[in-house]
Amino acid sequence: MPPPLVPELRLHTAEEATDLWQATEDELNAAGLPPPFWAFPWAGGQAVARWLLDHAGDVRGRAVLDFGAGGGLAALAAVKAGAVRAVAVDIDPFAATAQRLNAALNGLAVEVLEADIVGTPAGSGVLAGIDLVVAGDVCYEAAMAGQVLTWLRGLVAAGLTVLLGDPGRTFAPTQGLEELASYQVPTPLALEDRTMRTTLVWRLLAS
Ligand SMILES: C[S@@+](CC[C@H](N)C(=O)[O-])C[C@H]1O[C@@H](n2cnc3c(N)ncnc32)[C@H](O)[C@@H]1O
Repeated sequence: MPPPLVPELRLHTAEEATDLWQATEDELNAAGLPPPFWAFPWAGGQAVARWLLDHAGDVRGRAVLDFGAGGGLAALAAVKAGAVRAVAVDIDPFAATAQRLNAALNGLAVEVLEADIVGTPAGSGVLAGIDLVVAGDVCYEAAMAGQVLTWLRGLVAAGLTVLLGDPGRTFAPTQGLEELASYQVPTPLALEDRTMRTTLVWRLLAS
């Protein structure tokens, strides 16, 4: 189905959020795996994707990395907006599969990497040639958000552009940000406890 804020694209998603989340959380937890973040386009990712599509002039010709990509919506939006390449990165192997399926569904070419790249310096490894990093909804756990934001600010200091999409998660930064856009994103009541979340797209500053 098309994500509510990004009707230009389609994703393989769970139809009933609660049932799938509950079932897979139980099963995956037993196997030591994370819950199925890849099965839904989160508000932060939708906001970033919307921004990329609406600002194609800022995306065209750039090499984009979608960090914590989940189903890969922001990476798909980057390619559709004219990026020369887009890499979707996530630590979850199920996310990598979802990204491949979603890329095929939309007829768009997205590179897929299953890895923890937090700490990778600008210009090296998967970041070679990347000049725009986007991250949708990655500030939901304290330890992860702290490490990720420190790393992302380092990338900004090295000259990369970093965009965050965030619907007011507890561990989102409150300083060192430039607001680029604000969206009302429809959300599943079962997952978010509300049917709409105000979601900001920020440009991260070095400090
Ligand atoms: C809430 S989901 C957001 C997914 C997607 N960006 C969206 O907005 O729909 C957060 C994602 O971050 C991924 N993640 C968590 N820690 C990560 C890490 N160290 N490196 C890469 N991805 C990570 C999770 O596996 C999950 O898919």
